[in-house]
Amino acid sequence: MPTTTTTPSRPELLSALYAPIAAELAEVEHRLKTELRSDYPFVDELVRYGCLLGGKRLRPALLLLSAKAAGNRVTREHLTLATVVEMIHTATLVHDDVLDEAHIRRHLATVNARWDNEASVLLGDFLFTHAFYLASTLDSVQGCRLIGRATNIVCEGELRQKGSRGNFALTETEYLEIIEAKTAELTAVSCWLGALFAGAGDELVEQLDGFGRDLGIAFQIADDLLDVQGQEQAMGKSLGTDLAKQKPTLPIIRALELASPADRAALLEILTDREGEAPAGPRTRALAPYLQRYDALDYAKSRGQAFAHRARQRLELLSASPARDVLASMTEFVMSRNT
Ligand code: IPE
Ligand code: IPE
Ligand code: MG
Ligand code: MG
Repeated sequence: MPTTTTTPSRPELLSALYAPIAAELAEVEHRLKTELRSDYPFVDELVRYGCLLGGKRLRPALLLLSAKAAGNRVTREHLTLATVVEMIHTATLVHDDVLDEAHIRRHLATVNARWDNEASVLLGDFLFTHAFYLASTLDSVQGCRLIGRATNIVCEGELRQKGSRGNFALTETEYLEIIEAKTAELTAVSCWLGALFAGAGDELVEQLDGFGRDLGIAFQIADDLLDVQGQEQAMGKSLGTDLAKQKPTLPIIRALELASPADRAALLEILTDREGEAPAGPRTRALAPYLQRYDALDYAKSRGQAFAHRARQRLELLSASPARDVLASMTEFVMSRNT
């Protein structure tokens, strides 16, 4: 199996979108590089590999854009907090790849594939704890408190998902609650922190929290669609792992909900057949006719689009600015991405 692919992990479209915060994002990249180092060569290599190589940097971008859109300023605190949210996100990915037994992440071999699960668990811990240490260096405790609560909800969401593996009676409502916790909580708090530390009033801070939350839900619905129909080469990460790990995602939940008794039985047989465990393998192909028959992929897409649309509407309270325009464009990016 190839351990690297050639597609760049930051699509050109995103680089163009990030133009209004390019200088600040470069500063965050620099902070990541200086913060994440160790005097011990083994640790240093692992830490650099895990955090510095690629990624869309979506959460720091949301934080910085929210700061500009809500308060027209980016402060030293913002740069620290943007570094913190990226570290936390990366920690969750390093751990998630253990849970999913994934082999590729950000176009490279995962830490668990290149080293092992033990290295991944410890690297994730290193990143989480460094992130909280860094957040605690701010004068205000509010940032650390908000990030602490949000990260706890993210971990609870991952635990809830772990608990729902193989539960094909999971409802759409329960699915949405889980993805709101595991993914949207961090995008929401990123926007919240951006607005709050730019001095925005309560109403605006709340709107941006809602924006980040709806955007995060749309992002995860799209990600779950890509897990069944995306291209690993473009995405730069292992796909098909949701099915391999029996995670009920929206297209599956929808097809099961609408299926005739015979189709439902056939679907459950495919979903629980352990022999089809190879990622993106025979299981995905076997499911395809059922997903098509019940329009399940289009349905999931339309649900994602509805959240993206609501996110966009929440921006109406903000005065016009290039940063607001980028946030609006991000609601389209999340549903059209293939990376
Ligand atoms: C991946 O997040 C995890 C999900 C929430 C689906 P990203 O797609 O933002 O990952 P990177 O940071 O770009 O690698
Ligand atoms: C997102 O779920 C994981 C976290 C929020 C930590 P996925 O398992 O779908 O993420 P990918 O697809 O591996 O990036
Ligand atoms: Mg995963
Ligand atoms: Mg996924």
